[in-house]
Amino acid sequence: MRLLVCGGAGFIGSAFVRRMLGKHPDWEIVCLDKLTYAGNLDNLLPVADDPRYSFVRADIGDHEAVDAAIDASGGIDAIVNFAAETHVDRSIAEPEAFLHTDILGTHTLLEIVRERGIERMVQVSTDEVYGSTDEGSFCESDHIRPSSPYSASKAGGDLQVLAYFATYGTPVIITRGSNTYGPYQYPEKLIPLFVTNALEGEQLPLYGEGLNIRDWLHVDDHCDGIEAALLRGTFGQVYNIGGGNERTNREITQIILDELELDWNTTVRQVADRPGHDFRYSISCEKASRELGWSPEVEFEAGLRDTIRWYRDNAWWWSKIKHHTEEFADWRNRWYEDRPDA
Ligand code: NAD
Ligand code: TYD
Repeated sequence: MRLLVCGGAGFIGSAFVRRMLGKHPDWEIVCLDKLTYAGNLDNLLPVADDPRYSFVRADIGDHEAVDAAIDASGGIDAIVNFAAETHVDRSIAEPEAFLHTDILGTHTLLEIVRERGIERMVQVSTDEVYGSTDEGSFCESDHIRPSSPYSASKAGGDLQVLAYFATYGTPVIITRGSNTYGPYQYPEKLIPLFVTNALEGEQLPLYGEGLNIRDWLHVDDHCDGIEAALLRGTFGQVYNIGGGNERTNREITQIILDELELDWNTTVRQVADRPGHDFRYSISCEKASRELGWSPEVEFEAGLRDTIRWYRDNAWWWSKIKHHTEEFADWRNRWYEDRPDA
């Protein structure tokens, strides 16, 4: 199998590249990534010398550049698309890049799959497209009702994927993963932001009362779910990939404080809530279990504690981002500096 992995220099995409090269001796992977602020070749250092791996810097919205990458590789069997703008808060501050990549970029890849007769494409999507629900869990046939510019853009990508299947019979599969945690996650998202702030003696900016609920999935389980969809999924189908670990943000914060032996009152600062903050995400993964033979395996608290220790032991990785890139400092100043208390 020769795979084109788009967005493979980000958090989940790089885990997928590392993990699949480890699991499949006969796979070759071409990683294509624009290297936005979130893309980082340090994430791919463990495979940098593997002859089965190569890297191309390109935008998924640039048809010619993606074509050229495929030609140069000698042709590919499948595309797995992780490339996206992914941070909800940034989508609130500046939505445009989300439309460019998450909708138009996805469309460009669909055109390339159609034109070149590529055998299959997996579109990596998110449970956030369903929107928030106070009770019950969404299944794949439920309507989507995204509420942030991020989730609306991802939903736009999903709808285009499904339209290509219905209209042209394009061989596409969608996975909708839940909130993912693990090593190498850009430290703007809840868990790496809070862990690295805590390690540096900075406050943890908890939005509102911290009662919002997310379903947490270990990155290895997420990658295995995407692999299962790639190998065993049915074209035109959507598969939910969730962790089955619904926790409030307060609970996540408390585990981080416990592991690092810190005190809530001196470390946590409750700050003004995120506008339009979705209260709870929840998905049912029965279809992935039944049709793909996939279920999550990592026990949540052990996985989270291992992850916290990974950030503690790999300060070289995140301190480069937090202290030596303008993007991170600009974002922190814009989003957190003048933020009032809750
Ligand atoms: P990330 O932000 O860490 O990485 C995104 C990667 O895409 C980066 O390497 C970036 O450089 C690249 N990229 C962005 N725009 C691009 C473009 N136009 N062309 C080529 N490359 C581009 O994201 P992540 O957390 O690894 O998420 C990967 C995918 O999984 C996304 O599609 C996201 O919507 C989805 N997802 C993420 C989560 C989560 O909790 N992180 C949960 C469910 C689904
Ligand atoms: P995040 O990691 O941004 O993922 P998403 O918004 O895609 O679910 O946020 C996870 C939860 O943590 C969400 O309810 C918002 C909350 N949060 C904070 O309380 N403070 C923060 O600084 C961040 C980034 C998130």
